Amino acid sequence: ASEAKDYDVIFIGGGVAGYVGAIKAGQEGLKVACIEKRGSLGGTCLNVGCIPSKSLLNNSHLYHQILHDTKRRGIDVGDVKLNLKQMMKAKDESVNGLTKGVEFLFKKNGVDYIKGHGAFVNEHEVAVSLIDGGQTQVKGKNIVVCTGSETTPFPGLEIDEKKVITSTGAIALEEVPKKMLVIGGGIIGLEMASVWSRLGSDVTVVEFLGQIGGPGMDVEIAKNTQKILTRQGLKFKLNTKVTKGDASGQGVKLDLEAAKGGKNETVEADVCLVAIGRRPYTDGLGLENVGIEQDERKRLVIDQEYRTKIPHIRVIGDCTFGPMLAHKAEEEAVAAVEYIKHGHGHVNYNAIPSVMYTNPEVAWVGQNEKELKEAGVKYNVGSFPFTANSRAKTNLETDGMVKFLSDAETDRILGVHIIGANAGEMIAEGTLAIEYGASSEDVARTCHAHPTLAEAFKEAAMSTYSKAIHY
Ligand code: FAD
Ligand code: NAI
Repeated sequence: ASEAKDYDVIFIGGGVAGYVGAIKAGQEGLKVACIEKRGSLGGTCLNVGCIPSKSLLNNSHLYHQILHDTKRRGIDVGDVKLNLKQMMKAKDESVNGLTKGVEFLFKKNGVDYIKGHGAFVNEHEVAVSLIDGGQTQVKGKNIVVCTGSETTPFPGLEIDEKKVITSTGAIALEEVPKKMLVIGGGIIGLEMASVWSRLGSDVTVVEFLGQIGGPGMDVEIAKNTQKILTRQGLKFKLNTKVTKGDASGQGVKLDLEAAKGGKNETVEADVCLVAIGRRPYTDGLGLENVGIEQDERKRLVIDQEYRTKIPHIRVIGDCTFGPMLAHKAEEEAVAAVEYIKHGHGHVNYNAIPSVMYTNPEVAWVGQNEKELKEAGVKYNVGSFPFTANSRAKTNLETDGMVKFLSDAETDRILGVHIIGANAGEMIAEGTLAIEYGASSEDVARTCHAHPTLAEAFKEAAMSTYSKAIHY
């Protein structure tokens, strides 16, 4: 074991958290290694998450739009056909380009990329079972755990990624299922339901809660979203619990129960997507050899500086607290390296945007109305609909609105919620405003180019403390 190569810092996991941390450490002049068992860098996000799903969302939207939304734009199209194989190939090309890009960045920044499964031997040493066979051992002054997350399984429904699928199967189906059931109306459920519904599947989303989009989404925005997605052909069963699944026959059967008592029913489909959340992944990591704590949801327990009970072992990304988002993992990675190198780092957990890449997109940052009410905060609401925005009108994309929540006394922005075309880009301005502690008046007095969708953002801010001009 004394043969082990020495590093200043070792990252276990080469997802967004691990690869960004490794590059940053290299830039800071630290001797760094990153251990990844997948055979490709970028983790869930680049390989089976953010990137492939956005490729399919973009191209399925284009297909759906060409089929259903060209006539009124003055474009007559002929025979439109889906070539699913090619759509999947385009997705794979985006993924491969990006994962190879990360490998190049590792070389550029002097990161040792160790391909294999890492497990703690003791507080400083990690044994790696190499993908190509054999073992090696590395030693780190600092070790950062970033092993990510996995789909939470639904009891009784075995995942085969063909008939009963997770998001990983949902980005790789070989044909469009006639009927599809989605358990869970959160972000994965809605993004994947959108893709397959646009490509022709009859999709029903079953959600336990009374609203779609998960708990962070503002109720008013969630209702708006549901209305628009229903118009697009998606079906929803809210306040409904899936009690049992059966995939033993040709398709998949689900037993449903109304959450607050009511009638039970059984529904059937060719394919069922399980999207009821994700949980930290730490299998075979040898946590028992170092005594790192996990909470009741399997999250690795850390302090404000990402340290476990063993101060030189830190944890970042999906396998610890906070939202399971790629950009959150990325921020933590930079901060963790800064703590290691300089003793201080910074992530503002109040200013982490969320984006759902449906059509229209839904995006938010900061708090929603329910959260503010629960916290007893007095707030003002300002909003502006895209129907009154000139660019949205010219684009024939007038669905949605921008909503501002600001402190009733100081006008400081507490939350921004958007549903509309390009919401995911526009939310960056809200995030910056919150990061800088801006008031809604600060935003409203900032000149925005005309004609842009961002003017709706400015006018929503204006209506928070005064009146919008165009509505
Ligand atoms: P991961 O990306 O999961 O990386 C962990 C890596 O560690 C994996 O590659 C794994 O193979 C490796 N590993 C695990 N254990 C070991 C070990 N013992 N030894 C070596 N390697 C190991 N987030 C967004 O912000 N925007 C999106 O649009 C978005 N879309 C998503 C779509 C889908 C379908 C899914 C599933 C997720 C999406 N996410 C999105 C979430 C995002 O993918 C995660 O938040 C992000 O990947 C977390 O990064 P991470 O590095 O913590 O973990
Ligand atoms: P989620 O937590 O967003 O949604 C799960 C939904 O399933 C919840 O609304 C929950 O009420 C519901 N549910 C749970 N059990 C149920 C049951 N038995 N029956 C019916 N409904 C049930 O989790 P999801 O969608 O799986 O996504 C996991 C993570 O991946 C999220 O935390 C998200 O942050 C991340 N992600 C982010 C994306 C983005 O940023 N665009 C895209 C995809 C995933």
